[in-house]
Amino acid sequence: MRQTILACCIFILVSACSSEPVTSPNLETDLDRRVWHFLNSNGGDWDLENVPATDGRLLYDLIVENGYTNALDIGTSTGHSSTWMAWALSKTGGKLVTVEYDAIRHRKALDNFEKAGLLHIIDARLADAHELVPALEGPFDFVFCDADKDWYINYLNAVIPKLQEGGCFAAHNVRSWLIAPEGFLEYVDSLGMFETTVEGSPSGVSVSYKRSALRP
Ligand SMILES: C[S@@+](CC[C@H](N)C(=O)[O-])C[C@H]1O[C@@H](n2cnc3c(N)ncnc32)[C@H](O)[C@@H]1O
Repeated sequence: MRQTILACCIFILVSACSSEPVTSPNLETDLDRRVWHFLNSNGGDWDLENVPATDGRLLYDLIVENGYTNALDIGTSTGHSSTWMAWALSKTGGKLVTVEYDAIRHRKALDNFEKAGLLHIIDARLADAHELVPALEGPFDFVFCDADKDWYINYLNAVIPKLQEGGCFAAHNVRSWLIAPEGFLEYVDSLGMFETTVEGSPSGVSVSYKRSALRP
C-alpha cells in the first residue's frame, strides 16, 4: 500500500515536471487566440491523467505538418489531447473523433471543447473504446492512443486496416517506467509496416508512420 502511494506521488511529480508551458503556434486567427487563451487559462484543470502541454503541442505539430484531416483520439478524459488535435485540424480542414467511457469526463470534455470554440470539429463519443474503435468506419490518417495501456495492441490492430498509408499511429506513455504498455513498441516493430520514433515528454509518445510498402 505504501509503495503504491509512493509510486502515485512520483507519477504526479514527474507529470507536473513535464507540464511546463510550451510556446504557442502562430496565433493568426480569432480561433487561435481563443484556443490558446483557453488552454492557458484552463491549465490548472488538466489534472485527470491529461497529456502534458509538451505532448499536446507535439500532436498539434504532427497533424499540421503532415496535413492530416481524419483523426481519432482514444481516451478523451477531459479533452486536453483532443483540444490540441482539434486545433490543428482547424488548420487542415479536418475532423476529430474522440472516445471516452467515463460519463463525467466526457461531459467535462464537451464543456471544454465548447469553451475552446472547437466543438464543431469534434465528434465526442461516450462509449467503450474496446467496442467503438473496431466499429468505426474510418479512414483515419492520425490516431492518438492514450486509454487503457494493456489494450494498446488491440487498438492498433483494430485501426491498421483503416489507417491510410503515410498515416500515423501515436501512443502515449510508451517510455513511462510506471505505466508503459508492455511489449507494445516491440509489437509495432514486428509488424514491419511502421517507421517509429519516440518523442515528446519523458513519458514518451511513440510516433509510428505507416509505410506504403512492407519492410522486406
Ligand atoms: C490517460 S487518460 C487520457 C487523457 C487524454 N488523452 C488527455 O490528454 O486529456 C485515459 C482515459 O481513457 C479512458 N479509458 C480507459 N479505458 C477506456 C475504454 N475502454 N474506453 C473508453 N475510454 C477509456 C479513461 O477513462 C481515461 O479518461
